Amino acid sequence: MKSASGSWMGDYPRACTTLICLASLSDHEKTDSRRGAHAGIYGVSDHADLSHLCDCAVVQVLERVRRLRREVRFLTELRFLPLRVALFQWRAWRLAWRAEDGFSPLSRTPPRKLAVLLSAAGSRRRIVELGTGTAWTAISLVLADSGREVLSYDPIQRPERERYLRLISPETRRRLTFVSASGDEGPRDGETVGLLYVDSSHDREDTIREIETWRPVLKEGSLVVFDDFGNPEYPGVEEAVRQLGLEGNERCGLFVHRVSA
Ligand SMILES: C[S@@+](CC[C@H](N)C(=O)[O-])C[C@H]1O[C@@H](n2cnc3c(N)ncnc32)[C@H](O)[C@@H]1O
Repeated sequence: MKSASGSWMGDYPRACTTLICLASLSDHEKTDSRRGAHAGIYGVSDHADLSHLCDCAVVQVLERVRRLRREVRFLTELRFLPLRVALFQWRAWRLAWRAEDGFSPLSRTPPRKLAVLLSAAGSRRRIVELGTGTAWTAISLVLADSGREVLSYDPIQRPERERYLRLISPETRRRLTFVSASGDEGPRDGETVGLLYVDSSHDREDTIREIETWRPVLKEGSLVVFDDFGNPEYPGVEEAVRQLGLEGNERCGLFVHRVSA
């Protein structure tokens, strides 16, 4: 393969630099960069491509540093969780990164909030979650108590969910039930729910309807926990709580209401 200058040797340093740059890129970017390098070797825009590749490498190093910082922050937050839950969250986080699943780390209940939820749940054995996502929270809830069952509703059955379910044992998996339905479809039997975790559409009207349909199975001492209370991005949650006239406490963005007689 000849360079634009017509010299084999002329290509050597550029090829080395290209390899060094490629080594620091992700597979996705490698494809794009190879395209660029290929054009450069054939003399389309060699200097421009080389500096582009080096720029890419710098961007990649910065991105890695950022990712490392995010990982360290995530790891330090895991200390608030029970060991089994922390281990699952860590494995799920690594798996999401490897599988380039950007949805789960963004949509899941973050560790500090999850710790508040688990502490509120206490020894409650029957829990309903509205808004499964990729099931990180549903899985964490069953891992935190070996006698607990979780029923989780979501109209969207996300294929990524199965990936995280493979991280738990069949025994733990049996204590999880997923319902492909909207949260406001309500209970399918009359069994009392110890804790209802609302993390679904975050829309005011949906949230009000969800509480109304689940009310019959909430008994004295049951908890209703709303995610993203007071979050300006989701004003519907707080508006629904106010409109329903529910009393309770807010902690880490979760609003906890205890049902009284
Ligand atoms: C923030 S994610 C849930 C994350 C999950 N609770 C966790 O911690 O991993 C919100 C989910 O709510 C679901 N959703 C939206 N509208 C819903 C509804 N009306 N009923 C139930 N789930 C709904 C979305 O499909 C999405 O998967």
